[in-house]
Amino acid sequence: MQDKYSEEMSALLAGNLSGSMSRRDVLKRASALGLSASMISYLVRSNGTAAQDATPVPDPTAGRTIVVPQGLRTDLGGTRISAVLADPTDPNGPFLEAAIAKFGEATGITVEFIRGETSATDRLQSYRQQWAGQSGADVYQIDVIWPGVVAEHAVNLLPTLQDLASQHFEAIVANNTVDGALVGMPWFTDAGLLFYRTDLLEKYGLQPPTTWAELTMAAQTIQDGERGANPSFNGFVWQGNVYEGLTCNGLEWQVSNGGGFIVEADGTVSVNNPQAIAAFDRARGWVNTISPEGVTTFQEPDSFNIWIAGNAAFIRNWPYVWAASQAPESPIVGKVGVSPLPKGDGEGARNADTLGGWQLMVSKYSKNQEAGIEFVKYMCSPELETAFAVERSMLPTIASVYDAPEVAAASEFIPRLKDVFQGGAVARPSSVTGEQYPEISAIYYTELNQVLTGAKSGADAAAMMESQIKEALAGSDL
Ligand code: GLC
Repeated sequence: MQDKYSEEMSALLAGNLSGSMSRRDVLKRASALGLSASMISYLVRSNGTAAQDATPVPDPTAGRTIVVPQGLRTDLGGTRISAVLADPTDPNGPFLEAAIAKFGEATGITVEFIRGETSATDRLQSYRQQWAGQSGADVYQIDVIWPGVVAEHAVNLLPTLQDLASQHFEAIVANNTVDGALVGMPWFTDAGLLFYRTDLLEKYGLQPPTTWAELTMAAQTIQDGERGANPSFNGFVWQGNVYEGLTCNGLEWQVSNGGGFIVEADGTVSVNNPQAIAAFDRARGWVNTISPEGVTTFQEPDSFNIWIAGNAAFIRNWPYVWAASQAPESPIVGKVGVSPLPKGDGEGARNADTLGGWQLMVSKYSKNQEAGIEFVKYMCSPELETAFAVERSMLPTIASVYDAPEVAAASEFIPRLKDVFQGGAVARPSSVTGEQYPEISAIYYTELNQVLTGAKSGADAAAMMESQIKEALAGSDL
């Protein structure tokens, strides 16, 4: 046994240095051999192929605050499962690698970490293809808007994880429950937020904006001032591509302007109204003024890359941006403020932050469901949610974690905006539209993108949204 271990270790060291083994292979083999995170990090840094290989270098400090929960099963040691988590651009990658390694140490279960598609829309399509073939991974992260879509492919987690489920927010557990089955355990929640550069607001004598009109003015002032020295500078970046993220942005614009929820809780299709139309037209006005023309093709990473390079005054994005902005190498560390998104004007104007978030699901087609469930139990435990909030500013789905002093110390906005995160955020109409939600959202973001590119007026798009959504819903139970 010992001989085999040394043999494998020598092969690993030689292959790593010579470059005959890729960084990915080194990572795999080193974790299979049970090497420590710092050893693995050292190996990967000295890898012979490092220059040509794009695998991100693991951060040896990632996962440092993880406390492994008590009571994990150890009788499934030797089982291998795979989990689709995060995406290739996700700055949380090293944390997740570390979390997986610690799970392996505690349980003997090896988890292959597969990154999913960046766009939620593409990701759902790829999951559906895998499930259509009754194949794929054992565990998947699923979007808060998908329970109705994924239910038939998911293991009911209630019989085994009821105790854990009862610690999570009731509203999310209810959202994830389809016909009495818990199809996904809440993992983290999300809310659209406004991040701003405190140094630049101060430089131009501005306050954090509370209305879209103030934001437009502040973004223009800062952009005008900064462009001379930095032609790549932008006032405001967000997500305008033809995909789910645009539905999140659009819902914020219209709800904040008193423009309703696209489809109301009683099934009424309300999107074609003057306040929603005004909100769409206002967003069109940002394109090529305070926002780059390319914003109509941006997803989260595109806007984030501009922001993290120090090239934007404001960004609309999810809470992960906070921790990612505090990375030691970030040029904007210490210069970032967070607030809810601005209000519109007119009747019913309010703050509106779209509710997002991800759950972990075990596939019905998995041959290792028990190990999958154990992994979900670990990842969604209070311990892991605390570490995820502290190190990566991911919002917990367990109320008590919001009050942990180490969370407040790392991400002051988490307890400060607790009300937004615990019920105040605006849900997309996925509960009322169920499995039809992706189709309804696709109508909405496709039309809205046309407004942003100038191909259509807000009024024409809203009329099209209304008629197409009504048509799609006709024949359903609504
Ligand atoms: C975030 C949210 C998710 C949303 C997606 C859209 O990942 O958590 O709910 O669908 O963004 O891009």
